[in-house]
Amino acid sequence: RVMAIVKEFEEKCGTPEGKLKQLADAMTVEMHAGLVSEGGSKLKMLISYVDNLPTGDEKGVFYALDLGGTNFRVLRVQLGGREDGIVHQEFAEASIPPELMSGTSEALFDYIAEKLANFVDEEEQRFHQPPNRQRELGFTFSFPVMQTSINSGNLIRWTKGFSIDDAVGQDVVAGLTKALQRKGVEMRVAALVNDTIGTLAGGRYTNSDVAVAVILGTGSNAAYVERAQAIPKWHGPLPQSGEMVINMEWGNFRSSHLPLTEYDHGLDIESLNPGEQIFEKMISGMYLGEILRRVLLRLAEEASFFGDEVPPKLKIPFILRTPEMSAMHHDTSSDLRVVGSKLKDILEIPSTSLKTRRVVVQLCDIVATRGARLAASGVLGVLKKMGRDTLRDDGKKTVIAMDGGLYEHYTEYRECLENTLNELLGDETANSIAIEHSNDGSGIGAALLAASHSLYADEKS
Ligand code: BG6
Ligand code: GLC
Repeated sequence: RVMAIVKEFEEKCGTPEGKLKQLADAMTVEMHAGLVSEGGSKLKMLISYVDNLPTGDEKGVFYALDLGGTNFRVLRVQLGGREDGIVHQEFAEASIPPELMSGTSEALFDYIAEKLANFVDEEEQRFHQPPNRQRELGFTFSFPVMQTSINSGNLIRWTKGFSIDDAVGQDVVAGLTKALQRKGVEMRVAALVNDTIGTLAGGRYTNSDVAVAVILGTGSNAAYVERAQAIPKWHGPLPQSGEMVINMEWGNFRSSHLPLTEYDHGLDIESLNPGEQIFEKMISGMYLGEILRRVLLRLAEEASFFGDEVPPKLKIPFILRTPEMSAMHHDTSSDLRVVGSKLKDILEIPSTSLKTRRVVVQLCDIVATRGARLAASGVLGVLKKMGRDTLRDDGKKTVIAMDGGLYEHYTEYRECLENTLNELLGDETANSIAIEHSNDGSGIGAALLAASHSLYADEKS
């Protein structure tokens, strides 16, 4: 019975190359549709108002605030221009208390404004700077936002673990600015960016071939450089660069080709955002461990996988987190003792046979492989839309800046993603595409974009 359930799950999760190519094509079609009109596709294809990426000439001290990943970060970056690059960089990190993720927007913004205020004080003391200079900030806000300018935009809806109703439809910069005023911090928000946009900007600063950014973390998303003329829904002036960076919000991609299972449906229905972010729910860090838990629960209930009783802990949603799943998947010991101890510590299952542990590893592999291969098909879709899925005449490289805890820490997932992308592109083209890990690039990217949209840049440099 156990093996029948596992086999059925494995079959339903299948991602043969042909399916991945169909998915990539579907992604390209949706990208087109999303660029034509607002609401034209499940893919929002949001206009970022970033039409110039960092050049290296940026100068001055800038702050950044990064909200939406596992941790919330505040940064201070001193940019020295082309000669000196990043002269100094400091950051502080904190987690967002869970109750703030579903409270009021005022409470959330007060919390982050407070952290920023403390950080600014400490940094200015450390660098002996007089307070209240013309401070400017890049705000990385990793949720879908309908921007109205480079430094304003309304939250379309929450994703991942957040659900603060009164913030939806509101300008997030106004919310932050009011909280900063309440805390007495003088700070101008010069740029509001998604984490994908920040990562793209940070990546471009160090490598001029970076043209795509992908986040594989708690959530998943991609941004890329589009030709402004290929964006029918853009009615503003044509940027001088001829380019506009697009935040795809690919987490909300959906296609009949996606290998969805009953476990995905269950997860979706019971989630904070049913019917939304279907692609994200199959590939990103917030959900992989939860999919695994659901399969294990069915095995326990229907095939006595863990003995006569169903372990009560196994019934708790999200108890099995993706880092734990990754650790089990990565267990190379002959008796799979990491798997054993995780099952014991997290699910309070006192002892498990080697056979049981082997099945758990197999399930980790099925879930992670499906996620990573689907993510690779997404990347192929983006490259296709950009016309970079075949060898370029000019012999130039296309670099994809990637970041997020899943990509960084889940080795099997990362390797599978990279191998699958190579498989899909074929050897020759694969050599012209590179993935670069852009470590925490999105905070720095936001600071760089604050610099290029600074009102006081001349005085700072
Ligand atoms: C970080 C970025 O490096 O990656 C964040 O600075 C981003 O903005 C994050 O949201 C995603 O990773 P995770 O794993 O923390 O969700
Ligand atoms: C979610 C958010 C998106 C973000 C991604 C990665 O998909 O909606 O804005 O970029 O997570 O953090």
